[in-house]
Amino acid sequence: MARYSGRIPADPDTDSDDAEQELTIGLFSCTRATGRQLEAGTGDSPLPMAQWPGRYTPANFYFPYEQLIENAGAHDPDLLVFCGDQYYEGNPTRMETRVDPGLDALYKWFLWLWAFRELTRDRPTILLTDDHDVYQPSLWGDGGEKTAVIPKGGYTGSPEFVNTVQRVQCNHNPDPYDPTPVERDIAVYYTAFRFGGVDFAVLEDRKFKSPPPDRDETPAPDERELLGPRQEQFLKKWGHEDTGADTEADVDGGTVPKICLTQTCFACLQTDPDGQPRTSFESNGYPKRGRDRAVELLGEAGALVLAGDLHFASLVRHGIHKHTDGPVQFTGPAGASCYQRWFEPTASLSHGMGLPHTGKFTDGFDNKLHVLAVENPEIPLATYSKHVGNQSRNILDRQLRNEGYGIVRVNQDEEAFTIECWPWDESPSATEAEQFSGWPYRLPFDQVRGITDET
Ligand SMILES: [Fe+2]
Repeated sequence: MARYSGRIPADPDTDSDDAEQELTIGLFSCTRATGRQLEAGTGDSPLPMAQWPGRYTPANFYFPYEQLIENAGAHDPDLLVFCGDQYYEGNPTRMETRVDPGLDALYKWFLWLWAFRELTRDRPTILLTDDHDVYQPSLWGDGGEKTAVIPKGGYTGSPEFVNTVQRVQCNHNPDPYDPTPVERDIAVYYTAFRFGGVDFAVLEDRKFKSPPPDRDETPAPDERELLGPRQEQFLKKWGHEDTGADTEADVDGGTVPKICLTQTCFACLQTDPDGQPRTSFESNGYPKRGRDRAVELLGEAGALVLAGDLHFASLVRHGIHKHTDGPVQFTGPAGASCYQRWFEPTASLSHGMGLPHTGKFTDGFDNKLHVLAVENPEIPLATYSKHVGNQSRNILDRQLRNEGYGIVRVNQDEEAFTIECWPWDESPSATEAEQFSGWPYRLPFDQVRGITDET
């Protein structure tokens, strides 16, 4: 029998006197094995400035993500977080669900394992699943309902398939906070744990979420959920207590920093080709009341929020009544993906950070936030749309996208987070190594909760 073994080191916080004062977290999401599906025809680029990747070429193969893995590994992270879309159902070959979607997903999952095995063999790794992991282009879980049509709420796959995917990817995570399944016996995995002197929460922001409203406004605004009552209650408890943590904190009586891991951003940080705010029901800007409750709970907890899903990197401070009275969220870039989103508001934003498209913004659902940093694709959406129209948002030339990974350093001595955002092909040890513009960003622990006295 073949074995592939590794050794996970002890929790750095348990090393008593030798405890490292800095915990390094690697943040990844959205890894697509190839740009174009291998069954695709020859094709040609609709974008004159883009290189066409072909099919069986290095330009079309992102798997096994060598540079991403080598460069991220150079930071020697203590903990890895993969927050969704570990594979895409249509890559490298088309989705094959006629016989058994589980087998098709298994082979795509094996590619992920194969690629990331060196990085994960000796580091604790937390995984969250997102829509593509369960073979859906979008997911409004609606408490586990069944659906044949998206964007109705629910899962298109069978409960056996959804549970298999979750078990394969997430079963090694710390045990669920409350394992009671949702509808049709679909399991849940939201949880809390302490590692390296930091309290973590893991959310499932798709599972309980209501679908977009239909013409009759169903579900009614009052009935729409984002995290759902169970996770809201959990977050409240996690925010006020040390849920999932050892009773004897090693943090010398100081505040234990908190980090919440989730799938996507709690606002709709996207604009249309004309630079107007976009209303994507997939974003956690919808439903607004559920979003406000989540942001309020995360703010009360004093949690830094980490996510993925959007494919472009952003750092925002959420707001509820004002633009800056909520917590900070870092949405890391895709590791390798094609579908692109943009945040390029036409209006110039006040209180910018000296970089384009930063400052105070109100999204298409009327959510307030303060954009601290954003890394758009290399070509503006208006230019892209001029050539491609509204049919697709894929950019197949990797040099025109801005992908990579996040690094979050938690320094207990300095009582601050440092949030870094790195391109996949930039060696961090190079003399003039550069992160995406706007990063690194230093966030002292006492500024996590939000700023309420702004004018
Ligand atoms: Fe994705």
